[in-house]
Amino acid sequence: MEVIITSGPQEIASIGADAFCHLVDRLPGAVLGLATGSSPLTIYDEIARRCDAGEVSFAQASAFTLDEYVGLSADHPQRYRNVIAAELTDRIDIDPARVNGPDGLADDIAAACAAYEAAIAGAGGVDLQILGIGTDGHIAFNEPGSSLASRTRIKTLTAQTRADNARFFGDDPDAVPQHCLTQGLATIMSARHLLLVATGRAKSEAIHHLVEGAVSAMWPATILQHHPKVTVLVDAAAASRLALSDYYRETYRGKPAWQHI
Ligand code: F6R
Repeated sequence: MEVIITSGPQEIASIGADAFCHLVDRLPGAVLGLATGSSPLTIYDEIARRCDAGEVSFAQASAFTLDEYVGLSADHPQRYRNVIAAELTDRIDIDPARVNGPDGLADDIAAACAAYEAAIAGAGGVDLQILGIGTDGHIAFNEPGSSLASRTRIKTLTAQTRADNARFFGDDPDAVPQHCLTQGLATIMSARHLLLVATGRAKSEAIHHLVEGAVSAMWPATILQHHPKVTVLVDAAAASRLALSDYYRETYRGKPAWQHI
């Protein structure tokens, strides 16, 4: 696991956008894994800026989102399909028909989850998956207690996550759906490169467990310690509880530029 303690949002945006842009330069038909939430937004803005400036093209790429609320109407602004369109995919030249997400309005939820797994596998798997992390250590919506071997399925959101996400629903936790469809931890682990982004002190405990804690379903993100290629992109506040922060800084400073993302 590589931990990059950045100077803040600008550096996060630049390193994160580099990861996506270098990937599609190398592999124009790359499969991108996209997350919603606040953490990736500066990266998405920088990707959109570069695409607008003609510096990069996603015309041949495809994308899969991590999760979706169950039951939000097709035109609901917080439906993750609509959120990701507004935040990224409508702002770049990716073909909207190649942007996929779990179907939170499906009549047969189990079949929709199986179909989503099959679609990801059929596309050849995700090349680069961006992730946020919940204050309780969730990734996608794999809440504490999730099976470390889980695949796409329905989950119940915790009271903590609904409180955290209430800001998108008029500050009303009761307006946040109770259920979601989410890629499982094993689904996420199948992606070839994982890029996890976190900022702010509220994330410092989760980042501490992710990087330096024991692997446990109680902190679902800790499963990433078993992945061979994970980049953790944080600011100083999110890194504030890391015991080895000096070592991570020194390692990144000493890395030759050609080895950067
Ligand atoms: C969203 C998702 C969630 C968020 C997490 C952090 O697709 O998968 O796991 O990444 O809840 O959210 P923010 O970035 O808003 O703090």
